[in-house]
Amino acid sequence: MRRKFIVGNWKMNGSRDSIHEAKGIAEAAKNYPSVDVALCPPFTLVAGFAFALPEFSIGGQDCHVKPSGAFTGSVSAAMLADARAKLVIVGHSERREGLGETNDEIKAKCEAALTEGLRVIVCVGEPLSVREEGKAIDYVLAQVAGSLPYALLKDPSQVAIAYEPIWAIGTGLTPSSDDIAAMHGAIRAALGDAGEVMAILYGGSVNGDNASEILHLPDVDGALVGGASLTADKFVPIIAAAA
Ligand code: G3P
Repeated sequence: MRRKFIVGNWKMNGSRDSIHEAKGIAEAAKNYPSVDVALCPPFTLVAGFAFALPEFSIGGQDCHVKPSGAFTGSVSAAMLADARAKLVIVGHSERREGLGETNDEIKAKCEAALTEGLRVIVCVGEPLSVREEGKAIDYVLAQVAGSLPYALLKDPSQVAIAYEPIWAIGTGLTPSSDDIAAMHGAIRAALGDAGEVMAILYGGSVNGDNASEILHLPDVDGALVGGASLTADKFVPIIAAAA
């Protein structure tokens, strides 16, 4: 049985003072035991948050494919696990588009994270031009097929897919409910047996007003939330909508 999974991606936001928001979110999350909740702050805050909130799930926003080595500026999955992270996001479109990350790299990051015992959220999503051409489902299914390490899916419940249409991120725009349901259904079908236990999250301008409708669509198991996850007052209503 898949549980609802609500994840906050803080992107390049937050400071040590933000622990107050993280604590508020973690405390409120206890009121919704049917929902798994996690926060992914910037690397600088992962260990601090994770040690301050040992019962709560803190994660990274990326990881390197290698455990260690001469890779200036990078952080490995092993380092995230050492910092008490429980999960990691890989393949966010801000890294695919902005930094040229490929499906093969994302697959390798996914393998590295699973090897370190981290739960992984693999992001996929189409640009507006692809949506307008009517090819969004084919585009996203190719990303799913290319980014998932099927050989390592011993426990597919450790992997979640986040469908984030690029044009919906931070724009206030969302696809229609029919389009979200159609995409999630297509991803579920493509996953085969693994899809029975893998969570498929929606991301892109989720907020307290639209969360309930989105989270109750068929095949939507949760949300990956950016802007509305930065403060407890905005994030907690989304967690409540999932319960
Ligand atoms: O990973 C979450 C994200 O890209 C969505 O951001 O700000 O539209 O909720 P936002």
